[in-house]
Amino acid sequence: MRFLCLIAPRLVLSVLLSAGLGAGCVASSAQSRESAPVQPVAHLEVDAGVIAKPASAGLYGLMTEEINHSYEGGLYAELISNNTFRGNWMGVEGWNVVVKGNAQVTARMDRKDGPSAALPGSLELKVASASAGNEAGVSNSGYWGMAVRPRTTYKGSFYAKMDGDVGPVTARLVGDQTGAVLASAQVEMAGRGWARYEYTLKTGEVATSAMNHLELTVARPGTLHLQLVSLFPPTFGNEANGDRADLMEMMAAMHPHFIRLPGGNYVEGDTLKDWYNWKQTIGPLVDRPGHQAPWTYWSTDGFGLMEFLRWTEDLKVEPVLAVYAGYSLRGEHVAPGKDLEPYVQSALDEVEYVTGDASTKWGAERAKDGHAAPFPLHYIEIGNEDQFDKSGSYDARFAQFAEALRKKYPQYKLIATTPVKEKAGDEPDMIDDHYYKSPEEMFALVKHYDDAPRTGPKVFVGEWATRSGTPTPNFGDALGDAAWMTAMERNSDLIKMASYAPLLVNVSPGAMQWPTDLIGYDALTSYGSPSYYAQCMFGAHMGDGTPQSSIAGVAEGQRFFYSATVSSATHVLHLKLVNATTMAQPMEIALKGLGAGAHVAKVISLHGATFEATNTIATPLAIKPVESVARFTGAEWKHTVPALTIEVVDVGVE
Ligand code: AHR
Repeated sequence: MRFLCLIAPRLVLSVLLSAGLGAGCVASSAQSRESAPVQPVAHLEVDAGVIAKPASAGLYGLMTEEINHSYEGGLYAELISNNTFRGNWMGVEGWNVVVKGNAQVTARMDRKDGPSAALPGSLELKVASASAGNEAGVSNSGYWGMAVRPRTTYKGSFYAKMDGDVGPVTARLVGDQTGAVLASAQVEMAGRGWARYEYTLKTGEVATSAMNHLELTVARPGTLHLQLVSLFPPTFGNEANGDRADLMEMMAAMHPHFIRLPGGNYVEGDTLKDWYNWKQTIGPLVDRPGHQAPWTYWSTDGFGLMEFLRWTEDLKVEPVLAVYAGYSLRGEHVAPGKDLEPYVQSALDEVEYVTGDASTKWGAERAKDGHAAPFPLHYIEIGNEDQFDKSGSYDARFAQFAEALRKKYPQYKLIATTPVKEKAGDEPDMIDDHYYKSPEEMFALVKHYDDAPRTGPKVFVGEWATRSGTPTPNFGDALGDAAWMTAMERNSDLIKMASYAPLLVNVSPGAMQWPTDLIGYDALTSYGSPSYYAQCMFGAHMGDGTPQSSIAGVAEGQRFFYSATVSSATHVLHLKLVNATTMAQPMEIALKGLGAGAHVAKVISLHGATFEATNTIATPLAIKPVESVARFTGAEWKHTVPALTIEVVDVGVE
């Protein structure tokens, strides 16, 4: 049976996730489906009273890295692109020279004059002529636009140095199409040496739009050097140097339990010199040099290790801390032994920065960076995808890291990125397995862990995704993902954690490096893919025990998948039913352990008309979860899962 939901679309997810189900949903007429093809009846039996094995309540988490402008141009709310004036042969990307009236100005990169050792250069503006109304300066067009909203306060800053009395600097938000000034502020210059200046821009009754830019201009001749120009809209929790609220809210709705950080390939870098040297990503922004990230663009590291950690704190989840282990993406590795020691020390220091109290060297550094309390930590991952290190050095590199980490921090679980030849005492606690598959391949993978040995290390599926849609997964991918999630849930006595990857993509032309990413956005808005909604549904309804269950009447290889978990705290049975066929699946579901009498099943349903059906930035809610309620008496519930449908069902147990 299908249901149509009358809840306002924007409310659907929050209603669903706050466990309010059923209100506003009405059954649609069944007539049109009567002649539709139907699968033979399947018999599902679940005994909610018999827990066969434990399930991992903390199974689902998040993973992304600086890819697809996930942070810069994404989660990190900074509006100014290339705010440290990185140049290339094309010029200084993101910036234009502003000349008004008869002003005269030349702009160039001065590589030798900057506000700090980390940022030793700056943009030099030589203003030969300028006056009121004839101003000169620079403009920045943001990350594929600059979102401006009415009645909003934007907080800005920049570093500047003057030769001659060129100030004050006027900051303006300007509409691209109209030239209208949407907000402006004057910044008085204090002396000639390098100093940091702040400004505030407040909009009035302006239209919401992303087609805007920031201008910084002067009205007097002289020379002005600029560096680290910044502008922030209101952020999640109003934190300084903070995150986009819409994206944070979307992540919170997935009910994650951890964030694997900082990557992925991002932790490795392309070459040895590009490794994620976390010490250069903390402290004042002006002391962060930035680094070349592997996904083709520069990272300013404005979103550095502390910002990663605050992200975990804001979402009330734990970090899974990946440390660089001496292997970089293009195949170089650091020889185990003496050469590797500095990297092992860096990892020890990093763990101390995350977890040490303020009496430790790096704990004190963290307190200086504004976070006195240690962050919680249980898992440390050593490297990323070290199976690609064809030199075979990972066994020895892992052993060297494991020995040092275990000696100082025996309480943490260590994750290897590929199986290692174990020496007694340095066995990994977990192995990180990655799966990127087509829908077909994902359906075929669902039994992969069913018979895997339960005696060795546990499994962390640190990256997985069904990939065919671009830039975000389509409904066929969501079906593959849901099938795979049933498999991971069924095996979550072994698979303790799993994180879809990548999480984020800026869908503006040219911003993406990796097709098929869970959440899409541009400068102004964001949307969830069908796979995102499938994850919200599964993540919000995960138990801590797997009850005894069996299914009959589903042909071998047929694309029908299920999982069952029970929450011991809430006494709820969570059933996940995935029908990836184009025929409705009638079911007789025998549910033991519910108690006698009448039962209410809360059903959340995600349906797509075809594998190709999807959500886009222009049609963000074409596919979305709908809720309904089904009632049955006794232990048998006759229920039909419609074609191409993912369902999550909650039923109270005794
Ligand atoms: O998620 C994208 C990339 O895929 C990750 O950086 C890497 O670990 C994997 O190969």
